[in-house]
Amino acid sequence: MNMKKLTSMLLIAACVFSMAACGSSKDEGSKEESKEEKKTLVMATNAEFPPYEFHEGDDIVGIDAEMAAAVAEELGMDFKIEDMAFDSIIPAVDSGKADIGVAGMTVTESRLQNVNFSDTYAKATQVVIVKEDSDIAGPDALTGKKVGVQLGTTGDIYASDIKDAEVEQYNKGFEAVQALTQGKIDAVVIDGEPAKEFVKDAKELKILDEAFTEEEYAIAIAKDNEELLEKVNGALAKLKESGKLDEIVAKYIKSDAE
Ligand code: ARG
Repeated sequence: MNMKKLTSMLLIAACVFSMAACGSSKDEGSKEESKEEKKTLVMATNAEFPPYEFHEGDDIVGIDAEMAAAVAEELGMDFKIEDMAFDSIIPAVDSGKADIGVAGMTVTESRLQNVNFSDTYAKATQVVIVKEDSDIAGPDALTGKKVGVQLGTTGDIYASDIKDAEVEQYNKGFEAVQALTQGKIDAVVIDGEPAKEFVKDAKELKILDEAFTEEEYAIAIAKDNEELLEKVNGALAKLKESGKLDEIVAKYIKSDAE
């Protein structure tokens, strides 16, 4: 009896041991592989920013969406977009809820305190939108005016520096433009390309020739994820070299000549 018990215990122990010994290395290896294969690159964005990210039916499309999908493909990763408020993007990236923040996001000193930025992928400007018959002729004339911006954007930051200006913050850039159309505010400070999109169908609005600032867009990545930063930069370089990035941009931004 005792012997039998002992034998079966030993047998069980041997099995368990061998499973742990042989099984584990194999298992871990394949697990790691499949984890690597299936790892999803999560992009945080605010899809209220055509032509960079906007809703088209149930999808989020635009330059950033396609560029980030192409980056994920380069890295052999699945890809997912999380839409959120613009000022939630950096916290999402910082906390690891999202891997990358791609939102026509301007590289600024203060953002660099919280996240890393990839190499830049676009040049941009902040422009001023006014009514066609406005007496505001340039950014300098915004003193003391009611200026609409999208909350948390560089437009918001710059507008708050305008002397005596009253800054109205909107959740969406388009809402600021609507407020301008309705005569609730005197001007909107916003990125150049979305400005063109928002003004396209509004004959009573115009974009001032003189831009407010020059800036550059890049992809935000958590400070403790240097590895991903390097990978994303590598993928971006490839997309620039192969002409794929230009192709994506051309799909969404028609040159002025056309
Ligand atoms: N470039 C501006 C910034 O970085 C505005 C970006 C707004 N992007 C968006 N997806 N809503 O603050």
